[in-house]
Amino acid sequence: MASKSKILIIGGTGYIGKFIVEASAKAGHPTFVLVRESTLSSASRAKVVENLKNLGVNFVIGDLYNHESLVQALKQVEVVISTIARHQLADQDKIISAIKEAGNIKRFFPSEFGTDVDRGHAVEPAKTAFARKAKIRRAVEAEGIPYTYVSSNLLAGIYLADLSQVGAMAAAPPTDKVVILGDGNPKAIYVKEEDIATYTIKAVDDLRALNKILYIRPYDNIYSSNNLVSLWEKKIGKTLERIYLPEEQLLKDIQEAAAPVNVVLAILHSAFVKATELYPNARYTTVDEYLNQFL
Ligand SMILES: NC(=O)c1ccc[n+]([C@@H]2O[C@H](COP(=O)([O-])OP(=O)(O)OC[C@H]3O[C@@H](n4cnc5c(N)ncnc54)[C@H](OP(=O)(O)O)[C@@H]3O)[C@@H](O)[C@H]2O)c1
Repeated sequence: MASKSKILIIGGTGYIGKFIVEASAKAGHPTFVLVRESTLSSASRAKVVENLKNLGVNFVIGDLYNHESLVQALKQVEVVISTIARHQLADQDKIISAIKEAGNIKRFFPSEFGTDVDRGHAVEPAKTAFARKAKIRRAVEAEGIPYTYVSSNLLAGIYLADLSQVGAMAAAPPTDKVVILGDGNPKAIYVKEEDIATYTIKAVDDLRALNKILYIRPYDNIYSSNNLVSLWEKKIGKTLERIYLPEEQLLKDIQEAAAPVNVVLAILHSAFVKATELYPNARYTTVDEYLNQFL
């Protein structure tokens, strides 16, 4: 069997990055994490750094804004996965320049891990964030860099754990009242971070994912907000008070909120309110209904 590619993760101490590093190491890929000196000595990062050390990964000192350090790090691997934060997305042009100079990278995964930015619709400021990811895609393609874009939909730890209750910062779903954005009918897809990491790492050496978008859409994880609340109600044996926030109010809240809450609200708007079908009032026949005719 071919040996597993060496992988460099840029942003491996971040929220999604740490799951990807873990999946890479556990899958047996020689795993390298680009870190700044300041991260290694940061008290707030001590736990994540310790966890990564325990996985046996190789730390490479470097910085997104230090070209030479990027090139040197890239020369040690074959695949690079960026999990750089939303506010630094545009700066991934630095990774592209370094990949060109290093000349040995056989696959680049830019920082995506969300909606398919070439197809999603969003209001500002999410629109600009999506456009930044799309611009990086175009730059990667223009340079002829082999790529995989991971479209992983909503991260469960962020959007499912509290049923997307904005500002709640709760570790669990609500048990008395729940705010539902819009009419609660559009369907969203929730994926656990560990699963996103597993699929991402599986794609690394898979030629079927070369120059493609890897869509992570587990069928059983597609829920409308209304159905999700019903599922939770069934589990806790209790009916919640449902408070529906109309789209007009959500749009007003987006305009009035400060960053980064306004970005999160705009992402929620694109996922839960604007993700409506083209013809929402047209009734289609479900598989369940269709089979009933033969009974
Ligand atoms: N679909 C969803 O529901 C969802 C939710 C959240 C995020 N995302 C996406 O996931 C991606 C990653 O976001 P995140 O929230 O995981 O990011 P994050 O937690 O902010 O992590 C960013 C990482 O970049 C590192 N970094 C910062 N500056 C650097 C520099 N100059 N040089 C090298 N490394 C540097 C950070 O290091 P330190 O440890 O030193 O800070 C950290 O490891 C983004 O594309 C975002 O849009 C998707």
